[in-house]
Amino acid sequence: EENHRESLMIVTAYAAKFFHESLLDTEEGQNIGLSYFKERGFSNDIIKKFELGYSPDQWEAFTGEALKNGYQQQFLEESGLSVKRDNGTLYDRYRGRVMFPIHSFTGRVIAFGGRTLKSDKNVPKYVNSPESEIYHKSNVLYGLYFAKKAIREEDNCFLVEGYADVLSVFQAGIENVVASSGTSLTVEQIRLIGRFTKNITILYDGDAAGIKASLRGLDMILEEGLNVKVVLFPDGHDPDSYVRSVGTAGFKKHIEDNKKDFILYKTDLLLKDAGNDPIKKAEVIREIVESVAKIPDSIKASVFIKECSYLLKIDERALLSELNKMRMAKA
Ligand code: UTP
Ligand code: MN
Ligand code: MN
Ligand code: MN
Ligand code: MN
Repeated sequence: EENHRESLMIVTAYAAKFFHESLLDTEEGQNIGLSYFKERGFSNDIIKKFELGYSPDQWEAFTGEALKNGYQQQFLEESGLSVKRDNGTLYDRYRGRVMFPIHSFTGRVIAFGGRTLKSDKNVPKYVNSPESEIYHKSNVLYGLYFAKKAIREEDNCFLVEGYADVLSVFQAGIENVVASSGTSLTVEQIRLIGRFTKNITILYDGDAAGIKASLRGLDMILEEGLNVKVVLFPDGHDPDSYVRSVGTAGFKKHIEDNKKDFILYKTDLLLKDAGNDPIKKAEVIREIVESVAKIPDSIKASVFIKECSYLLKIDERALLSELNKMRMAKA
């Protein structure tokens, strides 16, 4: 089994090199892929460090080269780099896309995300590697290999949605950043971060989908016993577009001015909808106490109950008794 996994990783490493060289050393790669990355503002350093690449816009450019070099059909197929036709021959999964290799947290390439350069709505924006013996996407965080040292030093991990967000934020000198890319956040991903820090700051896109995902993520993080803060960006912005528009200092200032612990975040968000309706307000209180009930550390939970009581102007004892009821129901 180790041999099998190793064979898969050898072929993904070969592919990363192939795509990276296509980007830097071929005319098509330079004209199309590299100029795209340059337009997005990615530096040569970032392109090299994260081994960004380009897949030629042909059916068998990669597969043909790989077979010629002795890579076996079985591993090309299992890694998802090549796809089998009905007649048994293989073609390239990634064609004419800019390539983001996904590294394991020990630094080996285990999968890819490929972004289209077309704005055609019928073409999927990103194509990602399928699950394989070396790539279980729920256990992987994009960028963790490059971020882990800074996560430990800063004792905080910024969590973003996408590949480009990781690259732009990292390039801005904020290196403690990872993305769950392509899945909603999982328990395994949270535990992975938990090896390096107990503090997560969610920086999701400032759209409805981002807000919804942040609320889901928040409760999972609390359940795992980690601390969580949330920063929203102006609607239509994601961390990538925002850091490019305001620069490193502006980005850091936005985070400092807008980061909210989960009680404040949820309260602000939910109360906006509730207005003065007492029934809706009661519902908001229940939802917040439900989140607090997920915190395993009861001392921490009681501190949040105090804050909640203050923010919502509700008697602390009423909140505590609600909290205890929920805890009993769970146990
Ligand atoms: P977004 O749609 O926010 O894309 O999806 P993005 O990262 O901002 O991409 P750019 O800036 O337009 O290049 C966030 C993440 O969700 C995953 C990708 O990991 C993406 O980075 N995703 C999105 C997919 O896997 N497939 C898709 O078709 C779209
Ligand atoms: Mn096997
Ligand atoms: Mn989005
Ligand atoms: Mn984006
Ligand atoms: Mn985005």
